[in-house]
Amino acid sequence: MKIFIDTANLDKIREVNSWGILDGVTTNPSLVAKENTDFETLVGEICGIVDGPISAEVMSVTAPEMVAEARKLAAINKNVVIKVPMTEEGLKATKALADEGIRVNMTLVFSAAQALLACKAGARYISPFVGRFDDVGEDGMRLISEIMDILDSYDFETEVIVASIRHPIHVTQAARMGAHIATIPYDVLKKMFNHPLTDIGIKRFQDDWAKVPKK
Ligand code: G3P
Repeated sequence: MKIFIDTANLDKIREVNSWGILDGVTTNPSLVAKENTDFETLVGEICGIVDGPISAEVMSVTAPEMVAEARKLAAINKNVVIKVPMTEEGLKATKALADEGIRVNMTLVFSAAQALLACKAGARYISPFVGRFDDVGEDGMRLISEIMDILDSYDFETEVIVASIRHPIHVTQAARMGAHIATIPYDVLKKMFNHPLTDIGIKRFQDDWAKVPKK
């Protein structure tokens, strides 16, 4: 499973990229709003750090406007993927962009039916939001399972990005279901990295090693 970071913060992207496990980056308008840089400059800087798909979201509402906005973002770097919301206009834009060879990450997916339509429109990626689905009393990981069942039955080239991840169990469940990608917030990545028993084990080995006679 590929690991993306879900942030627009350059320091966090640099830090996680240094671990050697980072395959891409997803941003969204709320994440971009936390940074003090204009959007296009920020996307360009992220592309300079990570050599993988970098998702940047269009904010237009109509398909022709989405396509025009997407073309500008895609021109920033070959790795830019256009995030398009799951709407009727978004589907039209996805089809048009896919026909031009511009990769789309269809976002705000909350049902298997939406996922199927996104695949049919030619979305290269779909982003079901598991945490936000859990928040309203639904089962986000069950949604991933349903979508993976559909993808396993056909030859769509679409990859599933499990998004809106809240904790490491979401990540391991996604991997067990064969999801292609998890986009993970920085704090969850750190939780995956750390374990108290690892820290205790290191301290015990260090303490015992200090008792070993040295030449
Ligand atoms: O970037 C899309 C998605 O991962 C947002 O997550 O935490 O705002 O529900 P969240």
